[in-house]
Amino acid sequence: MTIVTGQLGTIDPAHVRNVMAVVPTSVTVIAGQPELTGEHSAMIVGSFVFISLEPCFVGFFVGHESTSWPQLNKATVLGISTLGSVQTDICRKLGKKEADRFADGLWRRGAFGAPLVTGSVATMECQIENVTKIGDHDFVLARVLGLNTGSATNPLIFQNHEFSGLLPG
Ligand SMILES: Cc1cc2nc3c(=O)[nH]c(=O)nc-3n(C[C@H](O)[C@H](O)[C@H](O)COP(=O)(O)O)c2cc1C
Repeated sequence: MTIVTGQLGTIDPAHVRNVMAVVPTSVTVIAGQPELTGEHSAMIVGSFVFISLEPCFVGFFVGHESTSWPQLNKATVLGISTLGSVQTDICRKLGKKEADRFADGLWRRGAFGAPLVTGSVATMECQIENVTKIGDHDFVLARVLGLNTGSATNPLIFQNHEFSGLLPG
């Protein structure tokens, strides 16, 4: 369905959600351990993007209602893991209480100490360069310290409220 609007700011938010739901995204875990509290924190984003080669920058958007982000924002190094098609269980785990999110062997430490998800398509460790408020989200620009491809080759995709693998089979 097409909705034409002549005025800025008059688009129904429910319509925006419905349209954006059909746009596919990758599924990426942002994880970190703030030095002061020592407790891990992690969240899923669909907004992860590669931005610049030199310097090497990536970015993602965080909603202002996120309870994980204030903790992640204090982490010295962020671990970024883009999930594979068989890793939907991680998304369910990240919906649980903070303490249970890191309760099993799905995680490993990267060379710079950040928590990374084992068996991902790609992992990287980053330092936050700056955070810019854009509408009801913050845009987080992050400098890449190190990165690697993972053991998974079929990326997990989120589209129309469902998870699936990009490649058949
Ligand atoms: C596939 C998927 C993509 C998501 N993408 C984003 C995103 O780009 N930015 C964001 O702030 N939240 C995103 N979320 C929601 C967050 O993962 C999380 O639900 C939200 O931050 C609230 O949890 P928290 O309070 O523990 O942070 C996404 C969730 C899913 C399942």
